[in-house]
Amino acid sequence: MGCQMNVYDSEQMLRLLAPLNYRPTSRPDKADLIVLNTCSIREKAEHKVYSLLGRLVRMKQQRPDLIIGVGGCVAQQEGYRLFERAPHVDIVFGTFALGRLHSLVQKVEDQKKQIVDINPRRESEPLYVKEPIFTTGNATAFVTIMQGCDNFCSYCVVPYVRGREVSRNPKGILEEIEGLVENDISEVTLIGQNVNAYGQKNGHGCDFPALLEYVGDVKGLRRIRFTTSHPKDLSDRLIETFCRVDKLAPHIHLPVQSGSDRMLRRMNRGYTRDFYLKKVAKLRNVRPDIAISTDIIVGFPGEERVDFEATLDLVRKVGFDSLFLFKYSDRPNVPAAKFSNKVPEAVKVERFSTLLEIQEKFTLKKNKALVRTTQDVLVEGPGKRLPNQLTGRTPCNRIVNFPDGMARVGRIVPVRIVEAFSHSLLGQPVGRDHEEYSGEDGGISHAA
Ligand code: 5AD
Ligand code: SF4
Repeated sequence: MGCQMNVYDSEQMLRLLAPLNYRPTSRPDKADLIVLNTCSIREKAEHKVYSLLGRLVRMKQQRPDLIIGVGGCVAQQEGYRLFERAPHVDIVFGTFALGRLHSLVQKVEDQKKQIVDINPRRESEPLYVKEPIFTTGNATAFVTIMQGCDNFCSYCVVPYVRGREVSRNPKGILEEIEGLVENDISEVTLIGQNVNAYGQKNGHGCDFPALLEYVGDVKGLRRIRFTTSHPKDLSDRLIETFCRVDKLAPHIHLPVQSGSDRMLRRMNRGYTRDFYLKKVAKLRNVRPDIAISTDIIVGFPGEERVDFEATLDLVRKVGFDSLFLFKYSDRPNVPAAKFSNKVPEAVKVERFSTLLEIQEKFTLKKNKALVRTTQDVLVEGPGKRLPNQLTGRTPCNRIVNFPDGMARVGRIVPVRIVEAFSHSLLGQPVGRDHEEYSGEDGGISHAA
């Protein structure tokens, strides 16, 4: 559940459990072990955990030997309290205990009693388990380069459940990416809560722009993305990297959260609206084709109509390519939970839909501007909408569906855009049955 960090962490769990003879299955009803990797970023995410756990009660009654583990951010936050609401859970392991999962499972197998590990002692670096590799058949992969966050935005639970910033050694990151490329990965997304701060306090002698240059030199890798960037740490050097590193896709996710200086101060974001707008101008100056996406919270405590208007104004000024919109919700321990002037739910809902409507128009307009252009699409797999379709992404991260042909997963194919929708594009591969791509190395057939 939750963010890309959890996707990555779940893969590490699979590898940790392999030596104990656990293999992934798509049939939970047949599983010997079910692990939920949870998210607590918003109230809704936490509710999802308990509703999923509720559905496992019957399964545990029918098969008492089934081991149920709850890991990730909700586990870290709740610890023993989780057993009160979910007594059928066997293991509660927090974000710091990820690397100890195999020994916790072994303990439950042997001793058949409930265990909690929310000890904030972690490995010196974010966990990466090299072997065994599970080939996913995907063309793209996430690579965690750092973990935790030092920013303490007043609404955010991350620093409490994921701890302080820790960066991985660049050598390990590069080895991992080389291994992924050997396993047919064409695109990597470097992930962390605030990748712009990579290497700033670990003394690896490599900051984020330098890391991007090294990753850009990995042979066989076609595309690089990264997320998430904090505006206050977006240096001019990093902005210029969009010109220096060819493989770096022209897309940046740059959460603004609010367009009101008063709210940004209360959120402890460390920048002003004007600072943000200047960063956007710089990015567009260096890479005019760059796509910019953002996160916005509506209904932060104390948000008045004028603050919301300032956000609307910023959204119109920037013209984001896409926007992830959230209604503020209190999280345990965060300062904003104690702030006065909470915004009523009905106002949050109204602001949410106003903003969404404006953004949908922008997104559609931006998508329509791509009709009749040719885009380099990295093929990710079969399309989800219609049979005989493939799907992939443009450099600026737009989804393109197009008729299946000779194109293979992992290849980059030129596709002419014929129609635009709000959340995807429809295209036609350029070239006669695009057979010129069939001989190219490096792709894997999605049918294989
Ligand atoms: N309420 C609502 N949204 C939140 N986010 C983080 N914490 C909260 C909260 N308490 C949003 C921010 C962040 C994104 C991942 O989730 O916009 O960028
Ligand atoms: Fe949370 Fe702020 Fe850190 Fe992002 S930068 S993870 S919003 S504390």
